[in-house]
Amino acid sequence: MSDDAVTGIENLSQETRTFSPPSSFVQDAVARPRLYEEAQRDREAFWASRAHLLSWKKKFTEVLDWSNPPFARWFADGTLNAAYNCVDRHVEAGHGKQVALLAEYEDGSDASFTYAEVKDEISRMANVLQDLGVTTGDRVAIYLPMVPEAVFAMLACARIGAPHSVVFGGFSAEALRSRIEDAEAKVVITADGQNRRGKQLPLKPAVDAALAGGGESVKHVLVVRRTGGGVEWTEGRDVWWHEARENASTEHEPVFVEAEHPLFILYTSGTTGKPKGIVHTTGGYLTQAAYTHRNVFDLKPKTDVYWCTADVGWITGHTYVVYGPMANRSTQVIYEGTPDTPHQGRWWEIVEKYGVTQFYSSPTAIRTAMKWGEDIPAKFDLSSLRLLGTVGEAINPEAWMWYRRVIGADRCPIVDTWWQTETGGIMISPLPGITDTKPGSAQVPLPGISVDVINDAGESVNNGEGGYLVITEPWPAMLRGIWGDPERFQDTYWSRFPGAYFAGDGAKKDEDGDIWLLGRVDDVMNVSGHRLSTMEIESALVSHEWVAEAAVVGASDDTTGQAPVAFVILRSGSEEAIAEAGGEQKVPELLRAHVGAEIGPIAKPKKVLLVSELPKTRSGKIMRRLLRDVAENREVGDTQTLADASVMDLIQQGLSGKR
Ligand code: PRX
Repeated sequence: MSDDAVTGIENLSQETRTFSPPSSFVQDAVARPRLYEEAQRDREAFWASRAHLLSWKKKFTEVLDWSNPPFARWFADGTLNAAYNCVDRHVEAGHGKQVALLAEYEDGSDASFTYAEVKDEISRMANVLQDLGVTTGDRVAIYLPMVPEAVFAMLACARIGAPHSVVFGGFSAEALRSRIEDAEAKVVITADGQNRRGKQLPLKPAVDAALAGGGESVKHVLVVRRTGGGVEWTEGRDVWWHEARENASTEHEPVFVEAEHPLFILYTSGTTGKPKGIVHTTGGYLTQAAYTHRNVFDLKPKTDVYWCTADVGWITGHTYVVYGPMANRSTQVIYEGTPDTPHQGRWWEIVEKYGVTQFYSSPTAIRTAMKWGEDIPAKFDLSSLRLLGTVGEAINPEAWMWYRRVIGADRCPIVDTWWQTETGGIMISPLPGITDTKPGSAQVPLPGISVDVINDAGESVNNGEGGYLVITEPWPAMLRGIWGDPERFQDTYWSRFPGAYFAGDGAKKDEDGDIWLLGRVDDVMNVSGHRLSTMEIESALVSHEWVAEAAVVGASDDTTGQAPVAFVILRSGSEEAIAEAGGEQKVPELLRAHVGAEIGPIAKPKKVLLVSELPKTRSGKIMRRLLRDVAENREVGDTQTLADASVMDLIQQGLSGKR
């Protein structure tokens, strides 16, 4: 835990505005107040009823086995298949002609796929994967842009019970390799390239690079043709999807697995340099995905056009693009590109084009749209929207109010949803049609979820006080562990407060008992709603030959929430190489590029500051709190615990003139 755990609680917004849902919304709302009562009465019976949102091959007889905490087993003797639940059963029920995916490409071209077509595509891909030797239990890495094939790939894996590990297409070859190796993936599914900001960026070379220096478990690479650019080819290993697809049958029998069979692994940053492979299993995860999606987004499958802007490389794309929406038979938009390509009204143009009804995005995206100006969304007809959501970080009340007024025309309820890669599904959120919403607060745990805010001693805090957010009862979509590292699972989440899951977030209960999230209390930062660890970026920096030591902090940023700022001590002896590269003034840019290559562009520090010392405690721990003061241009706080109090003067003197 960092030295500056929960701070700034007293500065929290004293928000008192509330917005009750419009009466028209209340009447037809999917979520009913009795959900809270039902869950209160008997939590396990409540979840057992929610599990009936799914089709089970073999019905479970036990709801929860919590005899060996923190290793939970939900619905353990039931069997099911996630892809069957997301696709086949809808076709069998006569909805094959309903559109599942409205794919919008960056260049404005589009394609749509009905549930029957999705069934054919995922059956073909499942057959191809099996022909390539993938069997139930094998891991498959997916490294694709946000195109329909990414959804097909995930569901094809689910169909054969082969856990997928999706790696965000913006991650580097190095990051991809470490994830492939940790999960020992047998096949990688990728594309030749992707469209990004009007350019075609190659993707497959990163896979080739990742496999050149490792990744021995990989036997085949299945390549989707997207940009049509030339690619290097490894005969015997690489297979074009469009060629394999031609001969692949659309008949495929899903493999029904036990509820606790792993559905996927998704890597996320923790407090160490090594990302954690978060493991989710089938029955509990899918139950919570379907239940939360239906109730939080008020989903009406017949009439809605739902759009979640997340990429499938993140948990939001797993639960609220693929598994939740498709289990609920949604018609949804998926969009390949960026919000400002070719113009800053692109998202709103898409809302108008498809008549989007629910829109789920991030506070960063809202703040960016605010910066671009409200005249941009004003050019488009957004009247189809009836519900708005946010996720990834706390939304500041101004952004919330702007979202409500400019995008939602003061009409749409807003759901601010708190959850994590580890929780698998939404945990804290208003329920539209029930909760009076409050700008900036995620407010209340969903029915069936038990959370608390506790102090250092583990005691529940009173209303008006802050502390640490914990989850006090197991929940169906909870992570089942960290891939290959059960000890780290226990240590990270279950050791600080015995019996409770420690989320890593600070929180406050306001006078009404509503929950406000205050940000991470560990060395994890949140950049544009994406999680990065300070250690991971520090390791990337010190892997550069010129760097002796590095400290990274998440400094607050008006748009991205936080941004990494790096303090770097250069290695003596590297002067000559630096001079050759153009001198010290070139170093920050070169190191930024280095971090981009090691992890991915999202991890690039906003600033790299060259310093001669770093502030450390007597036990050698870097005092990031003080560095954050410098990075945020604040007066430096209490330096008493520093081993050498003059260090901060040195840093500041060194920086004046350079910053
Ligand atoms: O700090 C919290 C923040 O995002 C972290 C989880 O990040 P990740 O696993 O990448 O998942 C993001 C998408 C679910 C949390 O520990 N966070 C997420 N949602 C909110 C939030 N902070 C405040 N309010 C939210 N609604």
